[in-house]
Amino acid sequence: MKDAENPTIYLKDYTPPAWLVEDVHLTFRLAPEATRVVSKIRFVPNPATADRRFFLEGEELKLISARIDGVEVKPEVTAEGLTCAVPDDAFTWEAEVEISPATNTALEGLYMSNGMYSTQCEAQGFRKITYYPDRPDVMSVFTVRIESDLPVLLSNGNKVAEGNGFAEWHDPWPKPAYLFALVAGELLNLPGSFTTRSGREVELNVWVRKGDEDKCDFAMEALKKSMTWDEEVYGREYDLDIFNIVAVDDFNMGAMENKGLNIFNSSAVLASPETATDANFERIEAIIAHEYFHNWTGNRITCRDWFQLCLKEGLTVFRDAQFTADMRSEPVKRISDVLDLRGRQFREDGGPLAHPVRPESFQEINNFYTATVYEKGAEVIGMLKRLVGDEAYGRALDLYFERHDGQACTIEDWLKVFEDATGRDLTQFKLWYSQAGTPKVTMTDDWADGTYTLHLKQTLRPTPETAEKKPQVIPFAIGLLDPSGEEVVPTTLLEFTEAEQSFTFEGLAERPIPSPLRGFSAPVILQREVTNADRAFLLAHDTDPFNRWEAGRQLAKSALIGMIDGGQSPDPAYLDGLQRLVTDESLDPAFRALCLGLPSEDDLAQSFVDMGRTPDPQAIWQGRQEMRAALAEVLSADLPRLYAAHRVPGPYSPEAGPAGKRALTGALLSLITLRDQGDTARAQYAAADNMTEQLGALSSLLAADLGSLELGLFADQWAHERLVMDKWFMVQVAHARPDQAAPVAHSLTERADFTMTNPNRFRAVFGALAMNQAGFHHASGAGYQLMADWLMKLDPVNPQTTARMCSAFQTWRRYDADRQGMMQEQLERIAGLKELSRDTGEMVGRILSA
Ligand code: BES
Ligand code: ZN
Repeated sequence: MKDAENPTIYLKDYTPPAWLVEDVHLTFRLAPEATRVVSKIRFVPNPATADRRFFLEGEELKLISARIDGVEVKPEVTAEGLTCAVPDDAFTWEAEVEISPATNTALEGLYMSNGMYSTQCEAQGFRKITYYPDRPDVMSVFTVRIESDLPVLLSNGNKVAEGNGFAEWHDPWPKPAYLFALVAGELLNLPGSFTTRSGREVELNVWVRKGDEDKCDFAMEALKKSMTWDEEVYGREYDLDIFNIVAVDDFNMGAMENKGLNIFNSSAVLASPETATDANFERIEAIIAHEYFHNWTGNRITCRDWFQLCLKEGLTVFRDAQFTADMRSEPVKRISDVLDLRGRQFREDGGPLAHPVRPESFQEINNFYTATVYEKGAEVIGMLKRLVGDEAYGRALDLYFERHDGQACTIEDWLKVFEDATGRDLTQFKLWYSQAGTPKVTMTDDWADGTYTLHLKQTLRPTPETAEKKPQVIPFAIGLLDPSGEEVVPTTLLEFTEAEQSFTFEGLAERPIPSPLRGFSAPVILQREVTNADRAFLLAHDTDPFNRWEAGRQLAKSALIGMIDGGQSPDPAYLDGLQRLVTDESLDPAFRALCLGLPSEDDLAQSFVDMGRTPDPQAIWQGRQEMRAALAEVLSADLPRLYAAHRVPGPYSPEAGPAGKRALTGALLSLITLRDQGDTARAQYAAADNMTEQLGALSSLLAADLGSLELGLFADQWAHERLVMDKWFMVQVAHARPDQAAPVAHSLTERADFTMTNPNRFRAVFGALAMNQAGFHHASGAGYQLMADWLMKLDPVNPQTTARMCSAFQTWRRYDADRQGMMQEQLERIAGLKELSRDTGEMVGRILSA
């Protein structure tokens, strides 16, 4: 790593831009290896500062010519940008540069993918298109002319002119450069339209490559639902005459909210019953909503600088979660989100990559699009809403949009809106944005003379940015049940603000059973002494669905730990409770499916760490296998009956109701397959007319080591469908036995259809390897070695994706000395790579610093 060349950027060093941009005209003459970009930019001095230094970011650009007010100039050009002597007052900058989209495999800036041109500018990709003040607090009106023989030429805003070989677009809304987008290609569109509530007609399009046009309907419907929802719930209307969505095969992330021209990873748009699973449909609906919602939370109100990323991402994730809860099931969405939060964000917050929701420094901003910024960022907004109440939240949001429309804002602006709308002092609440780490809350209680007292204590481990942590405001939702299962105190929100604090409930007839942290009201780790009998009681009686699930989860965890650790047999309290729940026809099948899921290998590994122990990945894997076998045995009489009763007949629908039933039958099938040699799964595979059931059957067979025939059939059937083949690559690695995970992944990389230039395909193999904990951490070290080999190959091709995938190693300090040594060796091998990217260099450096 070349630290000297990778300076650290600090939030505290923010200074306002010296020059603002009044308007921008861009002309693109598209050619695969020699695209010309002509820019004409009107600069005006920023009245808010006396600084008049002129610097334009620019990377990998060939400067052809530059002029100021029509006069040719010779700027001083470096690898990062250019400087030039400029007038004291407003002036017009013109430049022509050349770039090479066809050789741009980093997928940042303007690049080509399967014959089409596409852009990705967030966070700092616009500087790879032309010289510009590439920072989000410089907002401007863009006019774009595209010259190309390709039939479809798109950019932001409204189309103002078109003719043979060109199109012109104008976006009237001032925006930062990161929201710029351009697409050109031989594309087909699924058209649609939407009338906003004030009567504006909006043309909608989903643009795809030929062959994919039959997979757009669901995305179009999701878009319309999102537009309606944002009007009804947040009072936000769309603000242009046209809204375009484009599907691109090679894309680093899920999707991008460019103004009026959202660009999507094709995996986040394309869906048909035959090729996409229920989970895919749900993800598509959520991502379409997310990017659409950014039109207000991100685009109309944007971020002052990239440290404020959670301002748009945390809020927009919160909004898309509300949307999904409204479209589907609120408890099921909450449980899934908490699973994800614990699986990714707690893991990040507990290791070397921990950082505050609003980071204070970075080398490469792309490394901070993290679970902490997104998921914890959304949790922080949920807590704020819980604390001020729904009505005040609504007023605060109205004030936010009214006060800050058209601005580039900070977290201070956001919190001030809540302070002004509610009269609350949010000084302490703001610690959620600046202190890294997951608070641990220890709960004890006592009972005397009709009074129940709750004692809470909070602690937060030191992290580099703050050694001495202060107590945070924790909204702690609790309900109390009496021993017969009646709720005697309904959900009550306690504001837990001190390091230690007690709360009393008076006038109770009997000692209650507490149901704490209902709905997971704060992203904390709750520690308390609780008997399995009390957990089983909550599993049976709690009125809060989240805590009902949580009780089952805790039971499963303690049973599993007993098995892994002491060779105990599976806890009957867990097995009985689960059986009652799974067979309870009054409960939502989707909820029952979630209850059937066991804690993940990673979750169990973390539990061992929390107990001060070293996790053994192989033993954890073995324990889960045994528990699954025990579940299959205890439920053996129920499984075939429940499976048959919940099969969904008739034509496929991706709606929550039938999807929930398929989730349940899928979970049941994986247990059935452990006992019937795969007969039921093979029958389901053969009869399946949708990908959920086909892939579900294949996964069940693979998990039981029975799927080789179907694996071959699947590949023959779907060889021509990229997104389906990604699943084929993924399931094999995901379900490989621990000693087979690395060999299987390795053999997949030798296939002709494995490619490093497509992030989806790379992630299918190596994301699955990282998820297969017992395989990745296999004692041979083969998983570590293979991962590092491929990260080193990928880094020069696509640094962003490489850097994100380095997080596979983030938990290395958890393990025994042998494994630590092997992981350290691989990390150091990556760090020692000549020409290592800034992205990967920063990640590996942070992980090793643990
Ligand atoms: N603005 C991001 C896309 C992005 C991320 C651009 C990182 C550049 C770097 C977009 O709004 C986003 O957050 N997309 C998510 C999906 C979303 C549903 C959370 C993604 O791409 O994973
Ligand atoms: Zn986003």
